[in-house]
Amino acid sequence: MLDFELCIPTKIYFGRGQCARVGEIIASRGYRRVLICYGGGSVVRTGLLERVKSSLDAVGVEHDEFGGIQANPTSERCAELGHYARERGSELLLAVGGGSVIDTAKMAAHCVRTGLDPWDYTEHRAEPSDSLPVGVVLTIAATGSETSDSAVLTNTALGVKRGLSSEKNRPLFAIMDPELTMTLPPYQTACGVVDIMAHMMERYFTRVTHVELIDRMTEGALKTVVGNAPIVMHEPENYDARAEIMWAGCLAHNTLFQTGRVGDWASHKLEHELSALYDIAHGAGLAIVFPAWMKYALAHDGEAKLAQFAVRVFDVPVSGDDAADAAEGIRRLEAFYRSLGLTTTLTENGIGDTDFGRMAERAVALAGGTLGQFVPLKAADCEAIYRLAL
Ligand code: NZQ
Ligand code: ZN
Repeated sequence: MLDFELCIPTKIYFGRGQCARVGEIIASRGYRRVLICYGGGSVVRTGLLERVKSSLDAVGVEHDEFGGIQANPTSERCAELGHYARERGSELLLAVGGGSVIDTAKMAAHCVRTGLDPWDYTEHRAEPSDSLPVGVVLTIAATGSETSDSAVLTNTALGVKRGLSSEKNRPLFAIMDPELTMTLPPYQTACGVVDIMAHMMERYFTRVTHVELIDRMTEGALKTVVGNAPIVMHEPENYDARAEIMWAGCLAHNTLFQTGRVGDWASHKLEHELSALYDIAHGAGLAIVFPAWMKYALAHDGEAKLAQFAVRVFDVPVSGDDAADAAEGIRRLEAFYRSLGLTTTLTENGIGDTDFGRMAERAVALAGGTLGQFVPLKAADCEAIYRLAL
């Protein structure tokens, strides 16, 4: 196990009806003027925006609104949010939505007082300082952005999707009410499940040994998601199953499961290239890329950990042949994704081998020359993984 430091400062308010407390939570911290950030309109349709505003009104917290943040959010829209917050004198950005809204708020928060562009931070031309606080009312269990240290934006001019990891990205508080996720379309629920599992698997596939506690916690969390996902797909209003998935999504990406080891993250980087170019939903892209990465890892000295995953998470009987058990685990993972209504190949999404070279080069370049830890990848390896995903 490696040495580590861990501080997850975001205060979590978890459970039914917690969003009614948002005004009290903000006022008790002394903020008097907030900017409510939201996406393409689901919070308007579900009535959540009105509930949030009423809660703020009840305690005299002034508020402005900034909507229209799209999925796979752009750096350009994020810069607009930063300008608007400066103009309005906002003291806190309140993200009401999913990863796209939260990430936009996180990155805009760094820009409000400094006047810099979000891309200055993703490119490390500046480090976040003097940032506005961000509060979250979460509406989708997926990215874990509600407590994570990361934020991801797409620069449409450059066609590049890029994340920034910084402790300054951790929100001040996160309101997590599983009931808010009951209005999600099945496709978004499924994409969330895939992303949650991917955040666990990126950290699970490591060459660092003696990480048994975190391995077993991760396996338990993965099994919980695999067990509850079919329930939420068939009974979208099942509170208990929604709650299990929502809490798993947060734990999956708040750094706890990374303690004592290094993660791989190649699948995420390969997926970001896909969503930057084809605007595919992040979870949908991961359902395609992760099994392909596993097949590549299996052929490159990854069979022992893959077999452990297969046996402990997907109940594959131990045969004594790690490679065979690992292959069966990958088959079961793909079958699980398909049972959620997702596809597991690029071909099914109309994507062929036209941009693989460019995507592979860029993923490797962004990673500084070698991508991933469990299996270090060069551009040719990445291309091979995209081909395995066809
Ligand atoms: O935009 P609206 O109208 O609100 O609709 C959204 C959006 O279309 C809808 N939705 C959300 N909550 C809903 C709802 N519809 C009905 N009822 C609700 N309760 O769902 C759609 C997807 O929302 P989005 O925020 O895009 O989803 P997600 O949370 O999966 O975020 C994806 C983004 O986060 C990034 C991804 O790359 C992608 O850009 N990631 C962020 C990470 C982080 N900050 O830590 C880590 C991840 O690995 C990921 O890269
Ligand atoms: Zn992810």
